[in-house]
Amino acid sequence: MSKLAFTPRHYPATRLRRPRAQTWSRNLMRETRLSPDDLIWAIVLKDGKGVKEPVDHMNGVFRLSPDEAVKAAQEARALGINALALFPYTDRGQRSADGAEALNSDNLMCRTAKAIKDAVPDVGLICDVALDPYTDHGHDGLMQDGIILNDETVEVLCRQAVVQAEAGFDIVAPSDMMDGRIGKIREALDGAGLGDRQIMSYAVKYASCFYGPYRGAIGSGDLLKGDKKTYQMDPANADEGLHEVALDLAEGADSVMVKPGMPYLDMITRVKQTFGVPTYAFQVSGEYAMIAMAGDAGAINRDQAILESLVCFRRAGADGIISYFAKEAAELMT
Ligand code: PBG
Repeated sequence: MSKLAFTPRHYPATRLRRPRAQTWSRNLMRETRLSPDDLIWAIVLKDGKGVKEPVDHMNGVFRLSPDEAVKAAQEARALGINALALFPYTDRGQRSADGAEALNSDNLMCRTAKAIKDAVPDVGLICDVALDPYTDHGHDGLMQDGIILNDETVEVLCRQAVVQAEAGFDIVAPSDMMDGRIGKIREALDGAGLGDRQIMSYAVKYASCFYGPYRGAIGSGDLLKGDKKTYQMDPANADEGLHEVALDLAEGADSVMVKPGMPYLDMITRVKQTFGVPTYAFQVSGEYAMIAMAGDAGAINRDQAILESLVCFRRAGADGIISYFAKEAAELMT
């Protein structure tokens, strides 16, 4: 991002409409670009075979069984999308207070990662490190007397990250917001001979209502007790987010994320300008729902809104965007 030199300029010698007059000229002076290279496709999984089940409030998003996820990975790759971020729907029967299913090396996430890597070895696979898809209370960590335990949770997350990396995930993305987890997960991966796996930290993650449709998609919606404000950030805070990023980088994060995306574009810019590290934005489920619903209702143009929202992440400074729209957007770009 460049600094604008504000030497005095005056109309009529200066007319900013002049270079906007033709398509070729607008193309030439475009400052940021969006391509499928920049997109990470967020996909929700569900056990079974041939499952393609619509997700509430997210017209165009489906829970996919592992075989369908393999097909999706092939389609994504053909469109030039580099990586997928997978999220598991887990029904009540497989959930428990301690989220033990997270450590099952044969769980839905691990089986799907193996299947995708067998069929499409050159697609990047990203997974959340957090317990919320597996706990019966819907929280990201272990809970005791209504308190989310930090260090005890981090120990479990380290084991979860190793299980996921062994299954084939290339990037583990801790989304839990426990203190100190990046350093411990780095140590655990290195100790398990998985030193080549990246950590993408959900560093600037807010306690946001925009996650609503996602919680329904993974089966946590009705289960969540209380809120996540003791670990996720207050939407009113900005400096605290930079503090989070500084800690996660010092602990060994390869890249950082700002989440949600669109209401927090300022944070993307500040993180990128302050640290100059690979910075990703998550266009979360509620953002998807707003654009999809307004588009499908005819209030806005769905296709244009998808592409405009995504290029704005790039303008703000994001190197890449995790989005449920990734495939649809890549199709619009070809
Ligand atoms: C939880 C997690 C959440 C999302 C990704 N990982 C929700 C939450 O923190 O409750 C949200 C994704 C979305 O809304 O699309 N570890």
